[in-house]
Amino acid sequence: MQPLYTTIMDRKNFLKSGLLAGTTALMGSANAFEQNIVSNNIDKLVDANGNYIHQPLPYSETFLEPYMDAETLHLHYTFHHGGAVKGANKDLAMIKKALDDNNLETVDYWTKKLAFHASSHILHSIFWTNLTNKQTRPTDDLLKRIDKSFGSYDRLLALIGETSKNVDGNGWGILAYQPYGDSLTVLQCENHEKLTQWGCIPLLVIDVWEHSYYLKYKNKRADFVDAMFKIINWDNVAQRLSDATKLTS
Ligand SMILES: [Fe+2]
Repeated sequence: MQPLYTTIMDRKNFLKSGLLAGTTALMGSANAFEQNIVSNNIDKLVDANGNYIHQPLPYSETFLEPYMDAETLHLHYTFHHGGAVKGANKDLAMIKKALDDNNLETVDYWTKKLAFHASSHILHSIFWTNLTNKQTRPTDDLLKRIDKSFGSYDRLLALIGETSKNVDGNGWGILAYQPYGDSLTVLQCENHEKLTQWGCIPLLVIDVWEHSYYLKYKNKRADFVDAMFKIINWDNVAQRLSDATKLTS
């Protein structure tokens, strides 16, 4: 059996070569979104200083007419997506300020805001590149994986269609690659987040469900968290970071 990292790299190289051929044919001249995926193997949404940036749209605002009208696209991209980028930068700055000031009273609020804004930025950036002005169908490796995970392309459409149409309030339907199972999966997402940032790869996790501490620490969750800091295997965290950063190199 191939190591997980090797199989991921094979897929990345395959996807990269496909993207190189596909995006140039599809979009013509290079643009920031296109360069992003080709150069980084993943959307890169920050500048050299780590600030989030709002890339130009990969096409004109009339490109998706009549299925998506230009006015909607303009408002959506400029104010909703653009607002999320501004918000994410403010959230990052406020978390940094709280750490600089050694005053953590506000970080619960700002990390929630960052989850909302950064997830919005990530998902919108993917959304724009997911769309084009003609009907296409999955082929090759993508189609094989759709067949394996869902049975057929039509069954995937039925699943993601039903999932998207039934989001309570605002949200997204999402087709995702699940690296832990090497499979495709469909998710329903309310708003943008639920306190996550999409695409994050966990490096260190602290289980604060009550079953994790209640026998010994009773209601003192904070004591349990402090105790865990004494037994964390940072070598393991470092190995996970090394593997995760290779996914985008
Ligand atoms: Fe949106």
